[in-house]
Amino acid sequence: MSAERHLWWQRGVIYQIYPRSFMDGNDDGIGDLPGILSRLDYLEWLGVDAIWLSPIFPSPMADFGYDVSDYVGIDPVFGTMEDFDRLVREAHARGMRVLLDFVANHTSDQHPWFLESRSSRQSPKRDWYIWRDAAPGGGPPNNWLSAFGGSAWEWDAETGQYYFHAFLKEQPDLNWRNPDVQRAMLDAMRFWFDRGVDGFRLDAIWHLIKDGQFRDNPPNPDYKPTDSPYHRLLPVFTTDRPEIHPVLAMMRRLADEYDERVLIGEIYLPVERLVTYYGLSEPELHLPYNFQLLLLPWDARRIQATIDVYEALLPSGAWPNWVLGNHDRPRIASRVGRAQARVATMLLLTLRGTPTIYYGDEIGMVNVEIPPEAIQDPVERTAGRGFGRDPERTPMQWDSAPNAGFTRGQPWLPLSPDYPTCNVEAQRDDPRSILTLHRRLLALRRAEPALSIGSYRSLPAEGELIAYLREDGERRFLIVLNFGHWVRRYACGQIDLRGSVVLSTYLDREGEMVDRDLLLRPDEGVIIGLTG
Ligand code: GLC
Ligand code: CA
Repeated sequence: MSAERHLWWQRGVIYQIYPRSFMDGNDDGIGDLPGILSRLDYLEWLGVDAIWLSPIFPSPMADFGYDVSDYVGIDPVFGTMEDFDRLVREAHARGMRVLLDFVANHTSDQHPWFLESRSSRQSPKRDWYIWRDAAPGGGPPNNWLSAFGGSAWEWDAETGQYYFHAFLKEQPDLNWRNPDVQRAMLDAMRFWFDRGVDGFRLDAIWHLIKDGQFRDNPPNPDYKPTDSPYHRLLPVFTTDRPEIHPVLAMMRRLADEYDERVLIGEIYLPVERLVTYYGLSEPELHLPYNFQLLLLPWDARRIQATIDVYEALLPSGAWPNWVLGNHDRPRIASRVGRAQARVATMLLLTLRGTPTIYYGDEIGMVNVEIPPEAIQDPVERTAGRGFGRDPERTPMQWDSAPNAGFTRGQPWLPLSPDYPTCNVEAQRDDPRSILTLHRRLLALRRAEPALSIGSYRSLPAEGELIAYLREDGERRFLIVLNFGHWVRRYACGQIDLRGSVVLSTYLDREGEMVDRDLLLRPDEGVIIGLTG
C-alpha cells in the first residue's frame, strides 16, 4: 500500500475552525476571515492538512451562521469575498485545503426563498419548504419535535398553515423532494467548488428528507428525564429516510466533476445506519462523520469493541474517520480530564481513518462556565438550561495578553479563566505540552504512512488498556493506551513485542528499548516502533 494511492483526505488531518471564536482581525469581538488568515502560519506549523470552517455565509445569526440567508456570499461580520478568495489562495499555497460547512437541510427564515414561500399559498416557492394544514381539530399537523425543543411546527397566521423546522423556528426546513430546491442548492455547491473550495461538511444531513405521509414518530422507550426533550420520540419519520440517498448520490456526482473534492456528512446514527451513507447503489459521502468517540463513555473495553465493530462494518472501499470534539459537544479535556485528553489525542491520531481536530483541543481547552448574562446559544433557551453549546465555543487562547490575544475588543463569549497559562504561546516551546504532543503526532503521521493509511489490527488487551497494530510494508507500530489512572503492564502473546518507544503521551521516553515487557504509567499512551 503506498501513500500515493491514497487521496489527500484519506492521508490528511482536518482541523475544525469555529470562525466566530478563532481570531478577531478587526477587534469587534468576533472572529473573522482576516483573523484566520493571520493564523494560517500557526496551522501550517501545527501540521494539519485541511481546515473546515463552520458557516461564514450571510446569516441573521439566530443559530450563529447555521441559519443561512444567502448561500453564495460571505457575512460582513466575517469579511468579504476577497478575504475568502485570499484565504483559499493562501491556504493552498501552504498545502492546506479549505472545507466549507454547507447547511443543506434548512435556510434562515430571512432567506429570500422563505420570505417568498411564506408570502402566500400561491407563491411559486411555496413548495420549497414544508407547509401543512393544522390537524383536523386544530394544532400542529403531527407530533414531530424540534431537536432544539418544542414542536417542529410553527404556525404562520398570514397564510394559515404550519411550516416544519427540525431546529429553531428561524431555520425552516427546505423541501428536498422539490427538483427546483435540488437545483438551486447544487448550484450553490458548484459556486464554491468553482472558487476552489476542496469540499463540504454537510450539516445535519441525516435530517434532509421527512416522511412523505407525515406519520407520527413513536415514543422512545429508553427516554430518560435527563435527556433533551427531543429524545422523547424516536425520530424514525423525520430522519434517516431512504429518499436521502439519491440526493446524496447527486451531490457526489457533482463533487466528482471536480478533482479530489470531499463530501463529509454530519450524521448522528448508530454505526450500522451510518455506513449506509457511504452509498447504497451509487457512491454518496466520502466520510459520513463517525461520532462514536464523542458519544461513548470513556471506557477502554467499550471503545476498543466499538473501533473493531466499526472497522468490520465499513463497506469495501469505504474510508474510516474519527472525531473527538466539535462545536456541539463538550470539550474532550472536560469530558475525560486533562491527563486522559492526551491519551484521546494519541487514539484519534493513530487510528485508521481521517481524524478531525476541534480548534483549541490541541492546547487542552476546557468547557467554560458561561454566566447567565453572557449566554449566546439559543438552544440554552429553547431546549433548556444545560443544553447550550457556548461552553465549547469560547475564543481560542493564543497568548497571555488580555482576552488571550483573540481580540482587543469585547469578546462575544467570555474567555476561559485558564488562558493566562493555557495558551498557544505558553505551550509552543514546552517539550511536554499537549500542543507539542499534537505537533509530534501530526509530524509522525506524515512521516509514517503506516499511521495514516496503514492497516489496522486490534490486539487483545485487558482492563483499562487498548492495543492495536498499524502496519505498512516493513513499518510496524504498536499502540498501547492506558485509559486508567494506575500503572499497567501490557503483555501480548500475539506479537513479538520488541522495538523502541517512538512517542509517549508524557513526551519523555522516546528511544527506550522494549523487550517483551511494557509498563505504562497512569494515563499514558505509547507508540512502539516494532523491530521483532
Ligand atoms: C448541526 C450543527 C449545529 C447546528 C444545527 C442546525 O447540528 O452542527 O451547530 O445548530 O446543525 O443547523
Ligand atoms: Ca471581527
